[in-house]
Amino acid sequence: MTSNSSKQLFQPIKVGTQQLQHRIVLAPLTRTRADRQGIPTDLITDYYSQRATPGGLLIAEATAISSKVGRPKFAPGIYNQEQLAGWKPVVAGVHAKQGVIFQQLWHTGRTFAPTANDTLVSASAIPIPGVDPASGKPYPTPTALTIPEIKTIIQEFAQAAKNAIQAGFDGVEIHGANGYLIDQFNNTSSNQRTDIYGGSIENRARFALEVVDAVVAAIGAERTAIRFSPYYGFQGMHDENPLATWTYLTQSLQSSHPNLAFLHFIEPRTNIRTDDTVYAVESESLDAFRSIWKGPFVSAGGYSFDPHVAFKVAEQSSNNLVAFGRSFISNPDIVHRLRHDYPLHPYDRKTFYTAGAPGYTDYPTFAQEQQKSSL
Ligand SMILES: Cc1cc2nc3c(=O)[nH]c(=O)nc-3n(C[C@H](O)[C@H](O)[C@H](O)COP(=O)(O)O)c2cc1C
Repeated sequence: MTSNSSKQLFQPIKVGTQQLQHRIVLAPLTRTRADRQGIPTDLITDYYSQRATPGGLLIAEATAISSKVGRPKFAPGIYNQEQLAGWKPVVAGVHAKQGVIFQQLWHTGRTFAPTANDTLVSASAIPIPGVDPASGKPYPTPTALTIPEIKTIIQEFAQAAKNAIQAGFDGVEIHGANGYLIDQFNNTSSNQRTDIYGGSIENRARFALEVVDAVVAAIGAERTAIRFSPYYGFQGMHDENPLATWTYLTQSLQSSHPNLAFLHFIEPRTNIRTDDTVYAVESESLDAFRSIWKGPFVSAGGYSFDPHVAFKVAEQSSNNLVAFGRSFISNPDIVHRLRHDYPLHPYDRKTFYTAGAPGYTDYPTFAQEQQKSSL
């Protein structure tokens, strides 16, 4: 039987306070299976527990940090006692299998309003370009946050991080990617402020770095991580000089918080709306950021289609980890499959954001697939 156990992907690595046994990570995936109040359901406990492995890192789905943050229907929150209590069995299920779980902390900014009557907020009063396919109308224009409002949101990130630790999570990943609030500050297309949070790279990056400072002060650097997507145009993101912007962010974190649990970057070739690996601009790469950051470096995007790329990425440096999104949805036992070179089960895009078990907790393990085919 083929075994990849001796490969770098299966070598232990220390991440924050945790000793991991391999480097295959569950990427954060919104799956809309919480209840209307954003409280995790039993189904969510099953889902994460199915994907837990001894010393394996799971990053739980994007989770709203406050009641003032808009979120998709049935996406979870971590801002009240009921939600916090709802997360406890989820975390306990992962820990029972000696797994490690971080929570992703989310402020959606201009992408979602908390209720139909609330206004959207962002770095500047700039809407997502184009027409919202849901309404058939142009995306609404957000209001630009004031400096006191920015300071409040920074404290909300810190409080949500404390809540996550109280629920039992091993750490948090700040969502700084994919066109949500932090990304809206980082990118020139959505940030045209003229105060200390806009203009120069230093000013645009200030919000992200202050959120990291506050979360580190609340729960410690070794329990804190952040995710970025420098080259991903999702939800209207565009930066005039992504290499310079995220080089500055990475350098700043390396000098101010070298003990962060990890930095997480999305590969430039990612497009979650298509079912293949998209090379928008071949020359774009995460290498510059990898070479600056000395701690654990997680990358995600496209490995779902060719896991052998993940093996290669892991070989390239002693501190690389790789996260799988879509293939981890459809392969609860992906770690086992990659260890033995077993084929991956295809995912069903139609059930990404639906309700209930179908396409969520009913994907077979390799052993179950084999059993079925031998009947
Ligand atoms: C259904 C779905 C939900 C996602 N939700 C999130 C999320 O909550 N937070 C986040 O940072 N990225 C999210 N992503 C992006 C994934 O974390 C990952 O970066 C992306 O799927 C690329 O990896 P893959 O090619 O292995 O799928 C989502 C992607 C998918 C397909």
